[in-house]
Amino acid sequence: MANPGSDDSDGSDPKPVSYSRTTLTELMIPSYANFGGRVHGGILLSLMDKVAYACAAKHAGTYCVTVSVDGVNFRQPVEVGELVSLMASVNYVGRTSLVVGIKVIAENVKTGVVKHTNTSYFTMVAKDDNENPTEVPPLLLETPEDARRFLETMKRRELRASYAEHFDNAKTRMLLSENLSLLAGERCVVLNQD
Ligand SMILES: CC(C)(COP(=O)(O)OP(=O)(O)OC[C@H]1O[C@@H](n2cnc3c(N)ncnc32)[C@H](O)[C@@H]1OP(=O)(O)O)[C@@H](O)C(=O)NCCC(=O)NCCS
Repeated sequence: MANPGSDDSDGSDPKPVSYSRTTLTELMIPSYANFGGRVHGGILLSLMDKVAYACAAKHAGTYCVTVSVDGVNFRQPVEVGELVSLMASVNYVGRTSLVVGIKVIAENVKTGVVKHTNTSYFTMVAKDDNENPTEVPPLLLETPEDARRFLETMKRRELRASYAEHFDNAKTRMLLSENLSLLAGERCVVLNQD
C-alpha cells in the first residue's frame, strides 16, 4: 500500500484515520461575542465547518461540501478569552460521503480549566472538478477506537434514515382539523382553524 498523499498512491488506496486528523485552535476575541457577552453559536458552527472541510478534503484529496450536521447541542457557554480547540477525524466513509466527528473543547487560559462544549458530526461529500460527487478512498481503521467510531456512525446513519422517514410522514400526514386536540395545554393560541 502506498503512503497516503504520495505520488504512487492512487485514489483507491485506504487512508488511515490518523492521516487526516486535524485540530483547529482559536482564541475567542471580543468581536465573537453575542448580545449576552458570550461567544456566538454561529462562530463555533463556522469553526466546526472549517475544520470538517480540512479533515474531509485531506482524506478525499478533493474539494468537499457540507451536506448535513448532527449533534449540535452546546452543553456549556463559551466565554470571550477562552481558547477553543476543535479536534476532527474521519469517523466513516461511504462511496462519496464522509462523516467527520468533531470534539470541541474550551480552555480558560488563565486557570487551565478545560470544558467539553459539544461533539458534532458533519456529513461531507467529495466533489470532482465538474462538481459531481466523486469516490473517496476507503478508511484504514488502525485502532479499536477507530473501528468503534465507524460502527457507531453506521448505527447513527440507520437511526437518522428512520427518523427522516418518520419526520416526512409527520409533515405530510399532519391535518390541522384532526390534530387540534394535541395543542391543548401547549403555550399557543390558534386564531384560524380553516
Ligand atoms: C449533497 C449533494 C452532493 C448530493 O448530490 P446528489 O447528486 O443527490 O448525489 P447522491 O445522491 O449520489 O449523493 C451523494 C452522497 O451524498 C449522500 N447524501 C446526500 N444527501 C444527504 C443527506 N441529506 N445527508 C447525508 N448524506 C447525504 C448520499 O448518501 C451519497 O453518499 P454515498 O456516495 O457515500 O453513498 C448535493 O445535493 C449538493 O451538492 N448539495 C449542496 C451542498 C453544498 O453546497 N453545501 C454547502 C452549503 S453552503
